[in-house]
Amino acid sequence: MMIVGNWKMNGQQADGQQLIEALTAAPAMSGCEMVIAPPATMLSQAAGWLQGSAVGLAAQDCHAESSGAFTGSVSSEMLRDAGCEHIIVGHSERRTLLGETDADVQAKALAADRAGCTPIICIGETEQQYRDGDTKTVLETQLEGSVPKSGSIRSLIVAYEPVWAIGTGLTPSTDEIHAVHKAIGEKLAALGYADITLLYGGSVKPANASEILALDGVSGALVGGASLDAESFLAIARAGARIAA
Ligand code: PGA
Repeated sequence: MMIVGNWKMNGQQADGQQLIEALTAAPAMSGCEMVIAPPATMLSQAAGWLQGSAVGLAAQDCHAESSGAFTGSVSSEMLRDAGCEHIIVGHSERRTLLGETDADVQAKALAADRAGCTPIICIGETEQQYRDGDTKTVLETQLEGSVPKSGSIRSLIVAYEPVWAIGTGLTPSTDEIHAVHKAIGEKLAALGYADITLLYGGSVKPANASEILALDGVSGALVGGASLDAESFLAIARAGARIAA
């Protein structure tokens, strides 16, 4: 079980340190790995604060190139150097607000692997696509375009995040999450990937974590809002550990 906290563009050093202190002070949870993705400004510091703990470190994005004239961007190598083991790529906020395409996401996933990090590739349908019954087709297209050719990277994590469920308090039914994860697993198998860690994301809270994490095919969660509160994030991780036990 893996619980990833995406802090998005929230927090300054003092907030981050406090949150990390609360997470690392919690008793170890066997069977459930916690990973946090603080803002880029905090990653080096966070790596230090996390030292000696079982909590992993992720970045929220990377550039596809290693270095060069890309003002404002950060490369996967720099993120690895700062202490990241994972890099989230293709989050729907970047796809929607910054126009990232499947090809961009694939290039970033390859870059993450090149630097020695595991990419966490996000996919998800919009509300309209969900209403139109296009979820499966949309996700298959995203997987075909965003996931690097099998054998070209060492490891991969996929996060299914319905765009309409992010930050809204809405979630698909457990039957829907189960069916979609099954379809994603089948598509990944067709693309040559077996046994991929498949996370669900979108309004995961302590109140719904147990029923979502218990679903067959769900191997963890990508948590936004609830990851900014140590108690909520720990409660979700504890739910994961109970299910993994
Ligand atoms: P949320 O965000 O948990 O606040 O819905 C999830 C995400 O964007 O990864």
